[in-house]
Amino acid sequence: MRILGIETSCDETAVCLIEANGAFDNSFQCNVLGNALLSQIAVHAPYGGVFPNLAKREHVKNLAPLLQQVFQQAAIPRGATSRGSSKDIGHILEREPELFERLERFLMAYGRPDIDAIAVTHGPGLEPALWVGVNFAKALSTAWEIPIVPVNHLEGHVAMAAMEMNESADYSSVLKNIGIKGRLRTFEFPAIALLISGGHTELDLVEAWPVFKTLGETRDDAVGEAFDKVARMMGLPYPGGPHIARLAAQVRSIEASPLYTLPRPMICEDNFDFSFSGLKTAVLRLVRDKTLTDEEKAALACEFEDAAADVLVAKTMRAVEEYGAQTVLIGGGVSANTHIKNELKKALDEMGVQLLVPPAEFATDNALMIALAGYFHAIEEEFANIEALRANGNLRLGS
Ligand code: KG4
Ligand code: ZN
Repeated sequence: MRILGIETSCDETAVCLIEANGAFDNSFQCNVLGNALLSQIAVHAPYGGVFPNLAKREHVKNLAPLLQQVFQQAAIPRGATSRGSSKDIGHILEREPELFERLERFLMAYGRPDIDAIAVTHGPGLEPALWVGVNFAKALSTAWEIPIVPVNHLEGHVAMAAMEMNESADYSSVLKNIGIKGRLRTFEFPAIALLISGGHTELDLVEAWPVFKTLGETRDDAVGEAFDKVARMMGLPYPGGPHIARLAAQVRSIEASPLYTLPRPMICEDNFDFSFSGLKTAVLRLVRDKTLTDEEKAALACEFEDAAADVLVAKTMRAVEEYGAQTVLIGGGVSANTHIKNELKKALDEMGVQLLVPPAEFATDNALMIALAGYFHAIEEEFANIEALRANGNLRLGS
């Protein structure tokens, strides 16, 4: 089965085409036929965060060119015009004239491709941004008469953690992403999923694929958001996570004694919830009206990363013990953090529990994860009613 994945929930516009077969077990395999992504980091960086309407504008600009890039990678020949009329597509994209114009040009150049389903992120995320992807998918679906599988972005992150890829993505070269192959890792349920990104921090129980039950979540800021805000306070660029991690690694490599002590919010509370806003405020108190030296900045980054890791590990271990989990899957941009991964692995190894992390290049938002998660719904023929399909910024993963 060939699945086209589309992701526009935040500040990455991404399109991916995979050929996959098998079920959610050892029989599964996938082959990446095309994979393209444009990050808007440079666009949002001057503002220190993602602006929804700016993100939307960039998605509108980038989707059709990225789709074309994927078609070129997949060697899909140009050909006859598509079946759906541009009138139908015009109706779907009536509020997106620029997207319509770009897509119409694309559809005139390519005939109906050999694709079985279109998987698109319909939430959670920034609603104006999500709508661009959803409307784009609706237009393609109408033009090509191909069904849509709506995908929960968070489920995509978890699906990605369950995969083993033979190669990593390289978006600097168009052709390098072809031929990436994937299969499912062998693991056992029940599993715990820890989702840590710029918008989410939550723990879910996964009793089977894809059945999620939310155990707990953040009561205020997401952990990635805290990384980004703390980085900003220290004058580091957006997104701050990787910069904090880089500074912290310098301190860890010389084993310097800690200069600062930060709180570990909610670490001892008997629940699966998180809170990162107090941690962020504690950092603010230390940096306000001060000019930190490079050494102090690195020490603070290290202590902040330690505090975040301690809380994430403690709560995850609590969930593992309570539900007798055999496996922990982590997903979301913060799962690229080496220290968090190492600390979690240490704790889980002691209990003989398997930790599954996404390949680093696929830890942050991408369309492969959406195509993969979509595939498992497509084989069950869980397709959307195009008229009823909506973007939902607050879509939940678990029951
Ligand atoms: O999943 P993602 O790409 O987008 C959302 O769905 O939010 O996650 C982005 C978040 C940002 O907050 C970014 O700072 C954080 O992931 N991040 C990291 C690292 N790499 C990305 N945080 C800590 N350490 C990293 N190495
Ligand atoms: Zn994400």
